[in-house]
Amino acid sequence: MNFDDVINQRRSIRNYKKAEPIEKKEIEQMIEAALMAPSWKNSETARYYVALSEQYIKTVMECLPEFNQRNSLNAGAFVVTTFKKNISGFDNEGNPVNEVGQGWGCYDLGLANENFVLKAAQMRYGTLIMGIRDSKKLREIFSIPESEEVVAVIAVGKAEVLPVAPKRREWSAVAKFFE
Ligand SMILES: Cc1cc2nc3c(=O)[nH]c(=O)nc-3n(C[C@H](O)[C@H](O)[C@H](O)COP(=O)(O)O)c2cc1C
Repeated sequence: MNFDDVINQRRSIRNYKKAEPIEKKEIEQMIEAALMAPSWKNSETARYYVALSEQYIKTVMECLPEFNQRNSLNAGAFVVTTFKKNISGFDNEGNPVNEVGQGWGCYDLGLANENFVLKAAQMRYGTLIMGIRDSKKLREIFSIPESEEVVAVIAVGKAEVLPVAPKRREWSAVAKFFE
């Protein structure tokens, strides 16, 4: 798939089919793509907790609301994504460099996660980024330290049906040019 196809064809998948188990090596490739994303001073504060076994997949499911459980049924992996706080957007003394504060860590994680889902799309895997999840439970399951912010859970699996792309705005609705 060429780059534009990957960008245009990636969709949030809410209908997975039962498929061969995802190999650890495949998720590693997605994480490697995530690591190629830019980050504040190359601080690379994104962290990934990967549930691959049936047992861990079931436990992550229990951290999702009913509609997201339904959306991600039959996913072959769940990737809990976090970022290390107080680094991206912070100086060496631990002071925020500007008003965005921890927002920069979240920004970096978002860039990394976009690379992750695009790489998955190129590998013919569907993904669903889920922001509605129980972070407290996830923290306990994966022993995620308080120094990290738990952000999105990404379901990875084989799509049963490829959904129609939700409508997007025209560029002119979101950008102003000053010439
Ligand atoms: C930060 C974030 C949180 C999201 N949370 C959820 C979620 O909890 N459940 C869900 O079904 N979709 C969730 N989505 C998916 C969006 O609804 C989806 O990306 C959007 O509707 C555009 O569709 P597309 O990804 O197919 O282009 C989330 C997406 C993002 C980026």
